[in-house]
Amino acid sequence: MDAGSREEHATKQDRGRVPQVEETRKRSGPRLEGRVALVTGAGRGIGRAIALRLAEDGAAVAVNDIAAHHAAAVREAIASAGGRAVDVPGDISMIEGCQSVTRAAAAALGPVDILVNNAGIEHRARVRDHRAEDWERVLRVNLQGPFLMAQAAADMLAASGRGAIVNIASAAIMGFFGQPAYDASKGGLLTLTRSLATELGREGVRVNAVCPGFIETDMVQGDPEIRQLGERQVRIQPLRRMGLPHEVANAVAWLASDEASYVTGASLFVDGGWSRR
Ligand code: NAI
Repeated sequence: MDAGSREEHATKQDRGRVPQVEETRKRSGPRLEGRVALVTGAGRGIGRAIALRLAEDGAAVAVNDIAAHHAAAVREAIASAGGRAVDVPGDISMIEGCQSVTRAAAAALGPVDILVNNAGIEHRARVRDHRAEDWERVLRVNLQGPFLMAQAAADMLAASGRGAIVNIASAAIMGFFGQPAYDASKGGLLTLTRSLATELGREGVRVNAVCPGFIETDMVQGDPEIRQLGERQVRIQPLRRMGLPHEVANAVAWLASDEASYVTGASLFVDGGWSRR
């Protein structure tokens, strides 16, 4: 078989197994047109940037946040830029919240194709002072929430044919001083990403994680201790500045799109090179 016919043979085989591959290659225009995205914790910071970016790329966006007024403001920002959005306030740390948020998103916009598990909380405390209730609270929001959201959306994502989950973990998986619950929750989220990718991949759902480094948001700016940590960190990493929310959103938009059609179970570090120093 010469190179030309080998290529043709391979293409025919691919087409048989994965029909959307050829379609993906021909796709043009806004890359998420026709897709419904649900973004948790999208009322501010990185989640807000992700919601705006997915809407810019053509997705209809369900904006979740526990702070209802913030979710409503982001919905308005998307609508005034010409996009389609709905706010679906709720607490994603509990099963009832995950189910009602997912149902509300689908009722307003149609079945969910893209789930971005962004909502997260930080808690700083040293090992000996860490209260068990703070450990539980952090794990419920940062790890249980993404699992329950994936569970609530799994059938819709599988039916989509292009289902994608993007989990926002953190470069802090390497282990920071004074935040064991946060670091463990994000490490767990990376492993959960791989488990979900393994199980849901058979149904055509891709599951990936983005690990941001220090990003200028209220989470970092609002806590003097975290801000100081960030300022020290950026002095020794290859790119000597904090990241911006839209730089994380760019990575999420790519992972959610067909351009990443053969990427699953991956962790993409958006951290100015911190983890590679
Ligand atoms: P942020 O604190 O500015 O925003 C988080 C949003 O999540 C808030 O609007 C908050 O109301 C919402 N939220 C919290 N608990 C919730 C719940 N139970 N249900 C629904 N919404 C809830 O945080 P930021 O900086 O934008 O972080 C977003 C994600 O990125 C988090 O998962 C965080 O851990 C992660 N991250 C942030 C980094 C940074 O440097 N800012 C670095 C690495 C990861």
